Amino acid sequence: ALEGYEHYMQKEIAEQVDALSTCMNGRIDLAGSRVVLGGLSNYLRDLARVKRIILTGCGTAWHAGLIGEYLFEQLARIPAEVEYASEFRYRNPIIEDGTIVIAISQSGETADTLAAIEQAKDRGAPVFGLVNVVGSTIARTTDAGVYLRVGPEIGVASTKAFTAQVTVLTMLAIELGRRRHLSQSDAHGLLEDMLNLPEKIAKALKLSEEIKRIAKANIDQPNWLFLGRGLNYPVGLEGALKLKEISYIHAEGLPAAEMKHGPIALISEGMPAVFVATQSSNYDKIIGNIEEVRARGGRTIVIASEGDEQIADYADHLIKVPEVREPLQPVVNVIPLQLLAYHAAVLKDYDVDKPRNLAKSVTVE
Ligand code: M6R
Repeated sequence: ALEGYEHYMQKEIAEQVDALSTCMNGRIDLAGSRVVLGGLSNYLRDLARVKRIILTGCGTAWHAGLIGEYLFEQLARIPAEVEYASEFRYRNPIIEDGTIVIAISQSGETADTLAAIEQAKDRGAPVFGLVNVVGSTIARTTDAGVYLRVGPEIGVASTKAFTAQVTVLTMLAIELGRRRHLSQSDAHGLLEDMLNLPEKIAKALKLSEEIKRIAKANIDQPNWLFLGRGLNYPVGLEGALKLKEISYIHAEGLPAAEMKHGPIALISEGMPAVFVATQSSNYDKIIGNIEEVRARGGRTIVIASEGDEQIADYADHLIKVPEVREPLQPVVNVIPLQLLAYHAAVLKDYDVDKPRNLAKSVTVE
């Protein structure tokens, strides 16, 4: 079933081109500038009127949820926050009328996420699922939902499920936005760009050899930072988690501007700092953050937009990715980070698909 690939993770990274096409297939009505999510069609009218959205999940699904939080706020102007399922389940959360919960899970079997769903249901909130595995427990216990449609994900490190989770959240934010304040032309532009995502991912996948060289040059460094602002902050968190779980390298993801509140003290000569710095409204700000790290001897690995001619001056290693509209950029930007973790783990000769101490689906607390 490896179909010529050496590892499932490698195969699943490459599969993202087709998996995202399948995920979006029939769900984007470009002519009407609308999104059609069959599983939610009976609920969308009510969803567009909700007062608050709580997203919940664990690990990578939580990172997708954080992107969802930013997008619901930005595109649909609905207050949203993401909660770790493991925390949410044991809190005494305030869930008022008009709050809905979205549970995100590849496997649909994660114990903490299931318990968070029960907690929300007990308090009367409608719960929707974003799940990959058809007929899984979470798919069955939620009121309705959207399947990711990316096919089986075997590697413990979640890759194609993450980009599909983000894709579905983006589609949902655009549709809710359309029913609220988002203009038809803005929605149209975003949806048009979404349909181009598979092609942009295919382009980003070509960076693999270049990223392998970067991994090799820095493989002996025991501590890495992953920094971004805005939507690139959750992308950094995801990059750090990938590196930790399969290469056993200590990595930390942070909002870039938090560095000066403590973590910058960690920077020592040659410490890799991966900046996710594609074009965005806070591009100038992140350039400042890159300079601060460099001035202290950090080795900067910068992910930037293809057209960016000035950033080379700030990067020890530069990775250029195709550009899409800012709200969609996370799906492209995470590709080099998935590849970085993959190559690091292979270089270290670790079991990429079955990292130590981890299970694919965490069905115990
Ligand atoms: O199956 P789920 O999406 O509910 O799993 C959640 C996490 O356990 C999962 O994303 C985990 O963090 C991955 N191993 C990360 O690559």
